[in-house]
Amino acid sequence: MKLLTPSRTKRIRPDALVAFCLAGKEGAPDFGTLPKPLAEEAARHAPAKIGADGTSCTIPLAEGGPARRLYLFGAGKSAEISPRKARGLLRSTLKAVAKNGETSAEIDFPFRLQRMDAAESRDFLLRNLALADYSFRTYKSQDNEPSPLQSAWFAADRGPWKGVEGRTAAKETAVAAAVVAAAELVRELGNTPACDLTPSGFADRIGAEAEKRKMKLTVLDREGMKAEKMGGLLAVSRGSAEEPRLIALEWRGGRKDDPPVALVGKGVTFDAGGISLKPAEKMGEMKWDMMGAATVVGTVLAAADLRLPVNLVAIAPLTENLPSGTAYKPGDIVRFRNGKTAEIDNTDAEGRVILADALDWAKEWKPKAIVDYATLTGAALVALGFEAAVVFTDDDDLSRELVSAGERTDERLWRLPMWDDYKENIKSDWADFKNTGGRWGGSINGAIFLKEFVDPKTPWAHLDIAPTANYEREFAGYAPGATAFGVALTLRWLKDRLEGRRRGRRPARRRA
Ligand code: BES
Ligand code: MN
Ligand code: ZN
Repeated sequence: MKLLTPSRTKRIRPDALVAFCLAGKEGAPDFGTLPKPLAEEAARHAPAKIGADGTSCTIPLAEGGPARRLYLFGAGKSAEISPRKARGLLRSTLKAVAKNGETSAEIDFPFRLQRMDAAESRDFLLRNLALADYSFRTYKSQDNEPSPLQSAWFAADRGPWKGVEGRTAAKETAVAAAVVAAAELVRELGNTPACDLTPSGFADRIGAEAEKRKMKLTVLDREGMKAEKMGGLLAVSRGSAEEPRLIALEWRGGRKDDPPVALVGKGVTFDAGGISLKPAEKMGEMKWDMMGAATVVGTVLAAADLRLPVNLVAIAPLTENLPSGTAYKPGDIVRFRNGKTAEIDNTDAEGRVILADALDWAKEWKPKAIVDYATLTGAALVALGFEAAVVFTDDDDLSRELVSAGERTDERLWRLPMWDDYKENIKSDWADFKNTGGRWGGSINGAIFLKEFVDPKTPWAHLDIAPTANYEREFAGYAPGATAFGVALTLRWLKDRLEGRRRGRRPARRRA
């Protein structure tokens, strides 16, 4: 489906005009949010219960009217709604119009979104409209009809577009479309099963994307890892017949001498747990254990397409984690690239073991900040459910910046502590530390482990995205599968830094 620009001057007549109405007092619908002529039409034809959450109706419009059909959706009581609810509304409206065979839809969106200003709301709505009819149908041999819906757009000069010039609207639409293209790639990488997305396949795919844009991509194979003494990544990959890869994708849009921001992402294309084998139930979900890697490459590709004036490097260790005769074992001691050692207590805590070498390798780029993304722990899900990812950092400013960016893209983060006191949990009798820290504070123990591989002078945040990277079923307006959580958030954060608009940060302190 193509996202079109809201336009006042070149108005196209859509098949479907989608509008929302509220539940007024005493349950009667409130048509006040509708454009005038439509309000009259709605008052005449809509059922009395319309307005309540989840209600809808279709009203055919006369020849020469603003559309062939008017679709009314009830949205409950308030004209200010959560972004999460907006995403759900966009998805259900597009599903409904597509089901009726409509080829185009204009959406009259009258709501304010919580936590977002008008520009942020427009960006959020454009991206989420474009992704609203997303579905991963690559492997469906039947029932694979493409959606009849070919284009959709928001009504000009309405809701957050009130008073917005056509030129601005067009520019914002193009920006949103570029981010959506990256998000689609991230989702495709995630949803593709492990049989067809191997570590080398992932690297090749990114190689093709880098080639298209003439971006620099460095790829290490097993030999390269040996030369770099990356004992962690080598240990995890040893159980698999698939060759591991370590990739670094660079976008240089900033000043020549400006050090890059490094984005590091966990890329386990399948995590069976290794010798510490996972239970069979839902093991298939571990095809999504590479979402961190997909997030960082997707973000850097989007930054390139947007020509963001920043320097970035996306680093992703790519491997499978499988049990076999050659697999690494509990009790093994591995030596990482930085010389530190870890006792493997549980081979299923593999994410931190591969990220250790990747975080250390990142130092080669002398980054001015590092953010890593990893589906690292089930414990993050236990802590937060599905609504937010965890952010760990010792840098209060960085924490505020990232949390604020996520509030404004609806990719919410919640901070957990990473105090050195927790280091006790990963003490080992035999090595510098263990790769697990017991049951309690499972996500924190993961973060504490990673901290050993980052220069304490470099601002660094670790995002445990296990809660939000993918959903088994449709959830919160997301299609089933990968969400691409983190892409828009990171781009927002980078733009905030460029705009020097350190939202939510204390003005008194400064950092490079
Ligand atoms: N990839 C998993 C974490 C995960 C679990 C992500 C569920 C999404 C949903 C990770 O490699 C893992 O297995 N972590 C272990 C760590 C434990 C052994 C310390 C976990 O969370 O159980
Ligand atoms: Mn694991
Ligand atoms: Zn894993």
